[in-house]
Order: sequence, then C-alpha cells, then structure tokens
Amino acid sequence: MRDLTGKTAVVTGAASGMGRAFANRFAQAGMNVVMSDIEEPRLDEAVAEVAAHGTKVVGQITDVSDSGSMDELGERAFAEFVSVHVVCNNAGVSGGRTSPDFVSEADWRWVIDVNLWGVIHGHRVFMPHLLEQGEGHIVNTASILGHLPGHSAYVAAKWGVVGITLGLYNEMIAAKTGIGVSCLCPGWVATDLMNSDRNRPESTMPSALVEPTAEQEAGFEAVRESLKTGMPAPEVAEFVHDAVLNDTFWIFTDMNMVAALQDKHDSITENRNPAPISILDL
Ligand SMILES: NC(=O)c1ccc[n+]([C@@H]2O[C@H](COP(=O)([O-])OP(=O)(O)OC[C@H]3O[C@@H](n4cnc5c(N)ncnc54)[C@H](O)[C@@H]3O)[C@@H](O)[C@H]2O)c1
Repeated sequence: MRDLTGKTAVVTGAASGMGRAFANRFAQAGMNVVMSDIEEPRLDEAVAEVAAHGTKVVGQITDVSDSGSMDELGERAFAEFVSVHVVCNNAGVSGGRTSPDFVSEADWRWVIDVNLWGVIHGHRVFMPHLLEQGEGHIVNTASILGHLPGHSAYVAAKWGVVGITLGLYNEMIAAKTGIGVSCLCPGWVATDLMNSDRNRPESTMPSALVEPTAEQEAGFEAVRESLKTGMPAPEVAEFVHDAVLNDTFWIFTDMNMVAALQDKHDSITENRNPAPISILDL
C-alpha cells in the first residue's frame, strides 16, 4: 500500500506491547484504527492514547481464539469504517509452561488457540473483504521462534503462523490480488508477554500443575530478562509501518538471531543433522 492516510487498520492484541505500538504508529500515519484486545481496562486506556493522534479510534473487546468474538470484531470494524485496509493479527500469549515433561493439555490448547487460531480467524474474517476490495495488507505476528527448534506449544503455534502466512503470500501473488502480506518474526521485544497468564481464561487452567525444576525456572528467568532488555515496541512498529508501505514479506527485528537460522537451512540442503541450538544462547 502506498498511502495510508484516511484508511483503516485493525490490530488484535492492541492494549499492550507491540499491538499498542502498531496502533499508535498507524494513527500517526493518519489511519483510523480498530483496536481489539481481551483485556478491557487496558484497552480503554490504550484507545484514549492512540486517539490523541487525531484519527478515529475504536476499541473492541475480542477473544481472538473464539470464532464468534472474531466475527463480532469484523462486524464492528465494517460498521464503523465500511472499509478495512490493514489487518495485524498480533494477539498472543507466551504460555506458562514450556517443557514437554510438564506442559499440560490445557496449556497446549490455550497457546495454540490464541497464537495460531487467532491468526486463522483473522484470515477468515478479513480476507474476503480485502479480496473484494482489491487493496489491503495483512501482517501476522509470528516470532523468531517460528523458525527455531523448541518443543513448546508456543513454538508449534509460531511455526504454524509462519507456514500459513507464507502460504497466503504465495496465493496472493499467484492470483494477482494486489493484497500485501507480511510475516513479523521479532526477536526479544520489551513487552508484557511473560505476564500472559493475566489473560488466561479459567477454563484453560490445568487441573494439576507440575512445578518446574530449578533449571527450568532459571530458563524462564533468563527469558524474562531477555524480554526486559529487548527492542522497544515502537521500533518494531516502525518496521511494520515500513513493511506495509513497501510491501515487504519478512520482518525480522534481530539479524543476529536470523544468522542462527543458517545452519538449519544448510543442514537441509546438505542433507546432514543440524547443530543443536538454544534461543538463550543467541
Ligand atoms: N515480546 C517478544 O519478545 C515477542 C517476540 C516474538 C513474538 N512476539 C509476539 O508478539 C505478539 C504481541 O505480544 P507482545 O510481546 O506485545 O505481548 P503483550 O503481552 O504486551 O501483548 C499481547 C496482547 O495480546 C492480548 N491478548 C492475549 N490473549 C488474547 C486473546 N485471547 N484475545 C485477544 N487479545 C489477547 C493481551 O491482552 C495483550 O494486550 C504476540 O503474538 C507474541 O507472541 C513477542
């Protein structure tokens, strides 16, 4: 898309972190914004912040894992603005427990439902409109962990997001739709992601939680520290804004981490085993 002024963006997970920064950046660019999130008081506060840029901004409480709730988000967006141009499927949760010996089924379902199904619902609700309009751009938030090994629900969901986003991109080009697609794969970003349990529905609480070992707990602490010192969310929003304008597919925020993907790709083309790798060592 070459001009964003007067157009409309829909952002999920817009009350906090990166989604909130995207909403601010798009409003600064003159776009109207539909900000959706599951966390109500924080969304109200974020809507007021973004509306200060002077465009029309509305908030919609949405659970991206729920198809009916996502239908309502679409209905609200079309009722308020008629046209939608940029859709950021961004809402996500880290998941509380990340090792196969103590991941519960409830954890798996919650993380896959929000991180992967949220994107799938976003495509289902908004793609027919963008295709009919013949103009628009979808940005799906995956992660650098959508490319790296790991055995958690989070990694499974993010690999899924990379796969369907790449698939959508290829389909849009083959059908010459003019719809842009971006796959955002951030490294560490300073957000509230490690406090995702704040939005965890009661229904997904595991009946029995196995406590992490000291070593596993040290791993969580290292992730929390890496997030704290990560890239500020407004810098990621700048990348996203530019990717929409320049029709850029891959949005990586940390090229040192990207360098670590090389061995995986080489191991495939060279038909050999990959070297072991851990995100905490990058
Ligand atoms: N922070 C990082 O280092 C990092 C790195 C790679 C990818 N990501 C991804 O970035 C995206 C944004 O996360 P963030 O880092 O800004 O974290 P964040 O916790 O600050 O923001 C996530 C937002 O999603 C919302 N949300 C959670 N569950 C929801 C649901 N069911 N329906 C609707 N909204 C829901 C939360 O309320 C929150 O406002 C996520 O998809 C995350 O997986 C984050």
